[in-house]
Order: sequence, then structure tokens, then C-alpha cells
Amino acid sequence: MKFSVLTLFPDQVKNFLSESIIGRAEEKGILNIDTIDIRDFSGNRYGKVDDTLFGGGTGMLMQCEPVYQAFTSIYDADKEEKPHCVFMSPKGSVLTQEKAKELSKYDHLVILCGHYEGIDQRVLDEIVDEDISIGDYVLTGGEVAACVVIDCVSRMIDGVLPNSEAYEEESHMQGYLEAPQYTKPNVWHDKKVPEVILSGNHAKIKEWKRIHGLYDTWKRRPDMLKNISISADDWKQILLIDSEKKDT
Ligand code: ADE
Repeated sequence: MKFSVLTLFPDQVKNFLSESIIGRAEEKGILNIDTIDIRDFSGNRYGKVDDTLFGGGTGMLMQCEPVYQAFTSIYDADKEEKPHCVFMSPKGSVLTQEKAKELSKYDHLVILCGHYEGIDQRVLDEIVDEDISIGDYVLTGGEVAACVVIDCVSRMIDGVLPNSEAYEEESHMQGYLEAPQYTKPNVWHDKKVPEVILSGNHAKIKEWKRIHGLYDTWKRRPDMLKNISISADDWKQILLIDSEKKDT
């Protein structure tokens, strides 16, 4: 999969994504992450790409033409279809695992990062397919948010993670949070790994993980429960876990 990031701060994006799993996937050729410096398309020798706002207001706004030129430099409009373009913005719909899965289906994804007060609406209307936010707070620019999107989407691409089960069983993928996990030693600070987990009985372990995942979701993210149905029997077990926890 190819990502093209349109940004005023290409190094910020490159440095973040060159490390670890994403960096290795790039080396293997599974991912291709390209950064395009919008300043290279300023059309002036100062690299100035912003100006004051019409209609008043503080700060500076990124202008249409440099952004448009940077975008059209990515593909050959005579031979290729316009690639899907995402604008990182606190006004966008909030990124979910489901949205990341949807974005992972594109062969080529363009991610536009804004800075200062944002970008002139006219160029956004012309090139952007959807606005995405990474949460209800405002960052100084879209670069960190773009890295979050690329990281989250990339790990769904075949070959990026060591095995595909690694992400299909984790939090958010099944609509609820993942159960707690344990490794050696069996006892640490007098805390034991739950017996079921050490039992070797895969069916029981699976069921323990499902119920404890539902329990954690109920406690931490009750908003997620409206999208899944929980049987009366499951509720009994969830409440049992709760009373056991209160007793300890
Ligand atoms: N740019 C500024 N804030 C942002 C946010 N919350 N998500 C995505 N892009 C942003």
C-alpha cells in the first residue's frame, strides 16, 4: 500500500514512521510512505504558503495553490484515477478501527496535513474525499494525526504484523476490548495468573477471554456495549466477576 503525506513538516512524519514495525514493512516493500513538502510548491523563493484570513480572525491560513500543486504532483491525471484523499482535521469524523480497516483497502491513500489556522476551504472542496480526526482535541498540526492513521491502517495490511491473528483478536476489532494478558512468571508480587489461562484448555481460555473482554468493556467503555448484544448468561458471569473483584 502506498501513502503520500502532504505536509509542511515532512521530517516529523518520516522520523516517526521509519522506526519499528512500520519501518521494517517499508524496508520489505509492503508499505511505501512518501512525504511531499507543500513548501516546494509555494511558487515563491521564500517558501511562503500561507496568508491572513479574509473576513478577519487571527492567524494565517494555508493557501489553495501550493496545496493543489502538491496534490496534483503525486499522480498523472491523464493516466490514473484521483487517489483517495483524507484531510486530518479536528472537524472530521473520529477514527475508529472500522474506518482504518476501510482505508486499508485503498492501494494509494493521500493524507493532507494542515497547519496554522487550517487550509482555504476551496482547495479542500476540490481534492479531499473525507476529513478524519483522531479525537476531540486540537493538535498544532495534522502530522501527528497522519502518523496515527498510517500506523493504525498499516498494521491491517498483510505481512506488516508477524501474523494476521495478532490484530483480529485485539481490542476494538470484535467490537469490545481485549481481555487482560499475562506472561511469565506465574506469580509476581503475590499476584497469580488466573488458573484458566494456565490450564491448557483452549475452549475455556477462549471463553475466559471473551467474558473478561466484555467485563472490561462494561467497566471502561460502556458506550461500546450498545453495538453488541450480551446474553442474560453473559451478564450473570460479568456481574459475578464484578462481585469477586469487590471482595478482593
Ligand atoms: N489537526 C488538529 N487537531 C487534529 C485532530 N484532533 N485530529 C486530526 N487532525 C488534527
